[in-house]
Formats: sequence, structure tokens, C-alpha cells
Amino acid sequence: MKIFAVLGSPRRKGNTGALLEQYLKGVEENHSDIEIITVFLQEKNIEGCRGCNICQSGKIDNCVIKDDMDELYKKFEQSDIVVLSTPIYFFSMTSELKVFMDRLYAASHGSWKNKKFVLLTTYGDKDEISSGAINLINIIKQMTAFTRTDFIQKYGVSTGMNPNFVTQDKKSLSEVYELGKKI
Ligand SMILES: Cc1cc2nc3c(=O)[nH]c(=O)nc-3n(C[C@H](O)[C@H](O)[C@H](O)COP(=O)(O)O)c2cc1C
Repeated sequence: MKIFAVLGSPRRKGNTGALLEQYLKGVEENHSDIEIITVFLQEKNIEGCRGCNICQSGKIDNCVIKDDMDELYKKFEQSDIVVLSTPIYFFSMTSELKVFMDRLYAASHGSWKNKKFVLLTTYGDKDEISSGAINLINIIKQMTAFTRTDFIQKYGVSTGMNPNFVTQDKKSLSEVYELGKKI
């Protein structure tokens, strides 16, 4: 099983990074024969989609833009499970993750088949509704329905705007670890 884990927070060692790390620890400890690739989007050079639609013409592989998405298309296409992790920014995902998601439009159509998605979020407000995490959950539901893929797991935690909340929060660390074990 190949897992492609995407960290959409601009803070590598922040709440979302800690949540993702713990989730992957659970995955690793309960599964042999697993390959995990983690990508920190902030250090990648990814341009915004230009909307040229050439990717849909079948004349090229992936995208006309030549940047770090080239390597990420390969990782995406080879993976069985994609773990998307992001803090909630303005009631949605971070711009890093949005640019990446828009560019996935150009990933080869066949590669979406049987793909499974997991969503991990952190947010400052108190719950899924007030934080806007619910919007992102709905986006991933729509995206997986549209691409005929599966949305298999989600986990979110309120950090109360504490930049290091997750590393000190035994409850969320244990819950997300257990979720990883169940994948
Ligand atoms: C630009 C910006 C926008 C934010 N927007 C929201 C929001 O809409 N809802 C919310 O609950 N928290 C919001 N937050 C708080 C973060 O989601 C929260 O602090 C998160 O745990 C940060 O994750 P990190 O430690 O990985 O950076 C925002 C933070 C920033 C910096």
C-alpha cells in the first residue's frame, strides 16, 4: 500500500504537521508492506492552474506548466491513499493546498481509479461548524464524488489558536494515531 501524505500547513512543525506525523505513525505501526511519501507543500514551487485546459485534450501528460508538480503527479498517480492535511484558513484550506488541488485537475484520469482520500485538519475555533472545517469536509466529499474516489477517513482538532496545541494534547494524538492504525 502506497500512501502519499500532503502537508498543506506553512508551518512544518505546527499543529497540522504534528497531527499528520502521529497519524502516519499509527499507519506504519499497524501495517507492514507500506510505503509512505510525505510532501511539505510550502517548500515546493507550484504555480497556479492557468485554466488552459490542454491537460484535458489528451495531447500531453499532466500539465503544460513545468514545476515541482511534475514529481508530485508521479507520486499522486502511484499512490493508493492520499492524506490531505491542512489548517483551516478563512473557513477553507490553505492556499498551498488549494494550488496543489487545482493542479491535480491535470493528473491522468486513470490514476484516480480506486484512489482513497483522508482529510486531517486543525483549526482555531471551537468546532467543525464555527471554524469552517465543515466547508472543507464538504469540498472533499464533492471532490471524491466527482472523481469517483473514496473519502475514507477524516479527523479535525480545535487548537484554540495555540501554535503548539497538538503536541501537548494527549487526546487528539491518541485518537489520530488509532485512526491511522485502522486505515
Ligand atoms: C491566515 C489564517 C487564517 C485562519 N483562519 C481560520 C478560520 O477560518 N477558522 C479557524 O477556526 N481557524 C483559523 N485559523 C487558525 C488556524 O487554523 C489554527 O491556528 C491551526 O491550528 C494552525 O495550524 P498550524 O499550527 O499547522 O499552522 C487561521 C489562521 C491563520 C494564520
